[in-house]
Amino acid sequence: MNRHLIITKDQHDIAWLQVDKADSSANVLTAELLEEFDQSLVQIAQMHPKGLVIISGKASGFIAGADVKAFADVPGVASAEQHIQRVHEILHRLESMAFPTVAAIHGFCLGGGLELALACDYRVGADDDATRLGFPEVKLGIFPGYGGTVRSTRLLGDLAALQLMLGGRTVSARTARRMGLVDLAVPKRQLRAAAAGMVQRNTRPRRAGWIRRLPSLTLLRPLVCKLLVAQVEKRVDRSHYPAPFELIGHWRATAGDAAAMYDSEARNVARLINATAAQNLIRVFLLQDRLKAEGNKADFQPRQVHVIGGGVMGGDIAAWCALRGLRVTLQDRAPEYLSRAVQRAHQLFRHKLKDPYAVQAAIDRLMPDHRGSGIRNADVVIEAIYEDLDAKQALYAQVEPLMKADALLASNTSSIPLAQLGSKLARPGRLVGLHFFNPVAKMPLLEVVHDTHTEAEMVCRAAAFARHIDKLPLKVRSSPGFLVNRVLMPYLLEAVELLDAGTPATAIDRAAVAFGMPMGPIELADTVGLDICLSVAGKMAGALHNPVPEKLRALVDQGHLGRKSGQGFYAWKGGKAVKPTPAGEAPVHDPDISDRLILRLVNESVACLREGVVDDEDLLDAGVIFGTGFAPFRGGPMHYVHSRGSAEVKQRLDELEDRFGQHFHADPGWGAIA
Ligand code: NAI
Repeated sequence: MNRHLIITKDQHDIAWLQVDKADSSANVLTAELLEEFDQSLVQIAQMHPKGLVIISGKASGFIAGADVKAFADVPGVASAEQHIQRVHEILHRLESMAFPTVAAIHGFCLGGGLELALACDYRVGADDDATRLGFPEVKLGIFPGYGGTVRSTRLLGDLAALQLMLGGRTVSARTARRMGLVDLAVPKRQLRAAAAGMVQRNTRPRRAGWIRRLPSLTLLRPLVCKLLVAQVEKRVDRSHYPAPFELIGHWRATAGDAAAMYDSEARNVARLINATAAQNLIRVFLLQDRLKAEGNKADFQPRQVHVIGGGVMGGDIAAWCALRGLRVTLQDRAPEYLSRAVQRAHQLFRHKLKDPYAVQAAIDRLMPDHRGSGIRNADVVIEAIYEDLDAKQALYAQVEPLMKADALLASNTSSIPLAQLGSKLARPGRLVGLHFFNPVAKMPLLEVVHDTHTEAEMVCRAAAFARHIDKLPLKVRSSPGFLVNRVLMPYLLEAVELLDAGTPATAIDRAAVAFGMPMGPIELADTVGLDICLSVAGKMAGALHNPVPEKLRALVDQGHLGRKSGQGFYAWKGGKAVKPTPAGEAPVHDPDISDRLILRLVNESVACLREGVVDDEDLLDAGVIFGTGFAPFRGGPMHYVHSRGSAEVKQRLDELEDRFGQHFHADPGWGAIA
């Protein structure tokens, strides 16, 4: 009795295998589903059909990949290797069916899903925005292990296949067609007919020509590897993200010899998946799922958004919402304040949407509305005017009476407590904070700010709204800096202290990047804007027991605001910080630098947990990773504490306090952690 698969045969004698995983909105290759798949293949072989089409019964797509949840608790290298070998057997069975086999692909076809499709003779893809094919494995610290390295190199040629696997990027059906990854890209409504057509035609399955297989020659391989390694090294640090380098090594050792390649896949992927980097990256993947799930708690279908304040943030929030398909009205004090925001929005649409019709449709969805006529119809009203309590309250007094009864009222405030903002509202419980990060289009996290007065339904709606615009919602309690700015600020302030004490900016930034941060704190402060840092530092000085550094104030007084003014801690040219080359500067090997930066962030994280800013350690880790880019391969600040040993970290804080001062004083929350 099948749970996940449906087998039928049509009047043309073609067998159809529909993958429709039970109790799930997406198909993932669990062990149970794979075994059922194997039995279904046996059954279909006995039906002697003219051909087989594998298709998905899910709206979300073909197959989203292997079962990542199971990866999180793999019981060891040997059993992971056994599992991979078993999947190799199953896909070999598919590959050696006596009749033509076709994968009919719409939506997500990723990782293990693509590897299954590659074991078919042909692939047809739906030519629409939703269809994405690719190998995201390296992002999880592994490489394709279900035969993907063998079959993709054979189909596309070694270089094209390796680039696809090393980058972890996804491609559309049209690009896949150009690369040869699918045989046909057709409108979705013709997918079934096209797949059946492939069976009928039964031409010889595609293979890469000999020129494309040249790189696998024993003589050429070392050179190709050198080039690939150099490429990857530009993007990632080998000690943090070993997977792409391991993939190159695997290919170098086995290319051209399928049996050796399968064997090496099983051994190496099983080993990688059990290593710390992969386990932490898998953890991050699951944390992301947890944030997404926060958005499923209310049945809220927002269609229209009204944004008030067309400045840096309001303008970009409006543009982002329109990009994601919502109708948006954008209000400011007068029409002239809106033109810059609208221009920026059009730039965003052109950059993100290649199709001119889609660009025009997005432009049409965003309406300048300085009179605020959109308020009455809006499902969500987002206020993003100056950070001024009186101005915000005066605005709410005008807006609240006009709003629909069930609409959500949100503020993008970065520092004013919700209780103060809402104190004059007729219904304070409907006000939430929606704290977007700058730049809105790049930052995945959205802090959903609430306090004891906030209606629970409104918090759920706010989270649902976040998912609607493809952001990751994190519920945070209203308190200074919420979560992300709160933990980031001590890290930035410590960087300025180090600078004051004579450590070169480049040495500070290098230490942070070596730890795994996407950018050093000095460069980050310059990028965010020193005026903004100064303002946030000022508002949080009390809570952080950290006076605002004089150096920061002095730079802002001189008009040195960082990247946007061309000079901050660094000079900036063409959008890039001008840094003295390491050769021109004595290297600083000070083990204290990284600990001073990171442990202040960690200590503040512990304080946030103690105060209940977020509900638990996992949510804290998720927020800090998606809000600051905190080294994903370390699994988040709290996970880092536990991996390093909480007692050791606490002891190191005590030592730093003795040497550098009270701002390292361990938070009382450590008692509950250690
Ligand atoms: P901004 O100064 O760039 O823009 C504010 C806009 O609001 C201006 O265009 C102004 O004309 C308009 N405005 C002021 N009073 C108004 C009123 N009564 N009615 C209609 N429009 C009015 O400010 P920015 O940076 O966009 O900040 C807006 C809010 O977002 C603030 O609460 C700030 O704390 C918050 N925020 C800012 C971030 C940033 O990086 N700039 C990051 C996250 C939050």
